[in-house]
Amino acid sequence: MNQPARVLRMSYLVASLAGVGFFVLSVAWLGVWPARRLAEDAKRTGPGHVVALTPSEARGRVIYAREGCAYCHTQQVRFTQADIARFGAPTLAWETRADTPHMMGTRRIGPDLARAGGTRSEDWHLTHLYAPRSVVPASVMPPYRHLFAGGSDAPRQEARDLVAYLETLGRARELAGDEGEARAATVSHTHMEGLTPSPVLNPHPARPRRTGEVPALPANGDRARGEWLYARNCAACHGSTLEGNGPGAGGLTPRPTNLAEHTYTDGRLAQALWNGVSGTAMPAWRDLPLADLGALVEYVRDPRITSQLRHDRTRPAQGELAFGQRVYEANCAQCHGAQGAGDGWAARALAVAPTNFRVQRLWGTAAMRILQTGIEGTMMASWRSRLSGEEMQAVAEYIVQLYRDEQDLRAREGRR
Ligand code: HEC
Ligand code: HEC
Ligand code: HEC
Repeated sequence: MNQPARVLRMSYLVASLAGVGFFVLSVAWLGVWPARRLAEDAKRTGPGHVVALTPSEARGRVIYAREGCAYCHTQQVRFTQADIARFGAPTLAWETRADTPHMMGTRRIGPDLARAGGTRSEDWHLTHLYAPRSVVPASVMPPYRHLFAGGSDAPRQEARDLVAYLETLGRARELAGDEGEARAATVSHTHMEGLTPSPVLNPHPARPRRTGEVPALPANGDRARGEWLYARNCAACHGSTLEGNGPGAGGLTPRPTNLAEHTYTDGRLAQALWNGVSGTAMPAWRDLPLADLGALVEYVRDPRITSQLRHDRTRPAQGELAFGQRVYEANCAQCHGAQGAGDGWAARALAVAPTNFRVQRLWGTAAMRILQTGIEGTMMASWRSRLSGEEMQAVAEYIVQLYRDEQDLRAREGRR
């Protein structure tokens, strides 16, 4: 038998060996090796122990899968600059390791939810699930009414479980803390080539903060634009007449503020818009351009339409003020602060910060009404059973005159 014929007869063997060889190689290269690398990465960068889901959170996860939330929402911050800018530090392997079956998703009709935990208040979530458009007017997210017994303030257990699950998203990474971020940096250098890392883990623009540096907003914003922006972004909660009675207001505690019965300094408005109101459904609006925030300040500061709600009171007599001050110091200063700046010794422990009376002022009978009823969802209780009518009247007069509009004062001094 000559040489070429033998080679030809052996070719089936060569081909099948090569085939099996390539198969093994590709399984090793595309399956085993990346899996091992991921496992190593996960081990090196992850915490030793990840908090497991509670039964309620685990049920919520099943509901999330059942309702098809993953068709519109991803749960992975990718290693791209756009993702890092909007959603923060990219998702690491260990974060999704225990997620079986995983909920990473592939389509983003809505925003990524990998770090949804801690970005919104529970009442916001429930109102949003019941009727997304009542809090985000342009939303295309479908309502999930069947999780509720007739209203956003009557969630069934399923809605509570689902929100409990949403609150877990990103929790493990947050709990890993600085130590976790230091470990994360050891993996990122290969993936992060050419990308600027996010300075914060979760830069969600709506995430309320208790404090935070507020940039200077342009003064004298465009009022007409402010009105338009208000209708688009704020009227759903604060109502088209600014009286805190928009379609989304019903299920929120505390309810959206009646802006029409307040006067604010520009600084207070800038702070509320930039940082949101922590502990409430009031989101921050850090994704709006500064000029737009300036326009909103212009509109909210002076709503005009509601001037009938405001009636100037006669100046209280000096003796009355001293009486009001005594009531204040005995009952209110521990929260609202000795000077009314919202910085009493008990303030830091409260989820919703006590009002700073130096930068905002209530009008007409509103302060009296709040003293009677308290503010549901905050530590501001009703004083009806603890203070007499005269005491309430006196302390209401007292807090109103604590208001100091520095800008206004400076302007007036300049004129003099
Ligand atoms: C048809 C697509 C779609 C489906 C299905 C969907 N969503 Fe959404 N979702 C959106 C869109 C669009 C937004 C952005 C507008 C808004 O906030 O309503 C959004 C926003 C959100 C937000 C706010 C996120 C943020 O960063 O502000 C949460 C939380 C959320 N969805 C949860 C859910 C849950 C839970 C489900 C399943 C029960 C779900 N979504 C199903 C489209 C969808
Ligand atoms: C999801 C509902 C919601 C939306 C949307 C919303 N707010 Fe609010 N807002 C609230 C709630 C709730 C509070 C807090 C009430 C409290 O502290 O008792 C609040 C508080 C405020 C405050 C602080 C008031 C105070 O007395 O301290 C201002 C100012 C404000 N909102 C303005 C706006 C503006 C302007 C927009 C639109 C850009 C807006 N809000 C959008 C719900 C909302
Ligand atoms: C336990 C702490 C605490 C005490 C004590 C307290 N408050 Fe408050 N107060 C709050 C909190 C918290 C808020 C809610 C802020 C919010 O809703 O954003 C508030 C809100 C208010 C408001 C509404 C302000 C606005 O602009 O909407 C008034 C008025 C008020 N308090 C008056 C008083 C008076 C007067 C006293 C004493 C008789 C008093 N408070 C005692 C915590 C307290």
